[in-house]
Amino acid sequence: MNRKAKPEHYFSKEPSSPSAQTEITALLRGREYRFLTEAGVFSRLRVDRGTRLLIEALPLPKQGRFLDLGCGYGPVGIAAVGSEPQLDVIMVDVNRRAVDLTKENARLNGVVVDVRWGEDFQVVKERDFSLIAANPPIRAGKQVVYSLLVRAKQHLLPGGVLCVVIRTKQGAKSLKQHLIDNYARVKTIDKGGGYRVFAAFKEESSPE
Ligand SMILES: C[S@@+](CC[C@H](N)C(=O)[O-])C[C@H]1O[C@@H](n2cnc3c(N)ncnc32)[C@H](O)[C@@H]1O
Repeated sequence: MNRKAKPEHYFSKEPSSPSAQTEITALLRGREYRFLTEAGVFSRLRVDRGTRLLIEALPLPKQGRFLDLGCGYGPVGIAAVGSEPQLDVIMVDVNRRAVDLTKENARLNGVVVDVRWGEDFQVVKERDFSLIAANPPIRAGKQVVYSLLVRAKQHLLPGGVLCVVIRTKQGAKSLKQHLIDNYARVKTIDKGGGYRVFAAFKEESSPE
């Protein structure tokens, strides 16, 4: 019988596709980074355009806790702590291979981060993040993504911000409305190349 292999998503828990590592480089927030990537992780050939826009737009605090939600091989959290070394960076991904790569990439770039394997807030109990950033797994479905981004609010400090990048044509308008319905204030902080970055503030008085 000729059974077709089940297609593997970048958010598989334990990807089984053959894994040849590739090293890529990227200039992010003015610094050059090296990243090891593999089959079975998101955007393995280059740092995704949306991810780049998100990284450059992030309103990084000088210190405090930062969450990279769905870190992939690690560009967002690694570039964040590379820019602001006092930040306490936690990175989480459901994909085991992505988590292993992020650990290696942190070492490769000489930064210290706390990387966790598991499903979003099941492994992130902290509720004092100043900033949470996500290039969310749109392919997992709208309901999954919407629920993830609403639950993020409970993990922000009162003055905290959630930053999300999305492709304009993949439902940016409805995602923005969903954030408006659930957060005190929402702003488009950058757009370009077919992507938008939204900042959703937990409280009306949250700093810009
Ligand atoms: C669009 S990719 C972004 C990866 C990385 N942040 C980047 O920009 O290159 C979304 C990531 O979220 C992860 N993910 C999906 N569902 C998740 C969940 N429930 N908890 C944690 N990570 C999840 C996927 O495995 C994937 O690595």
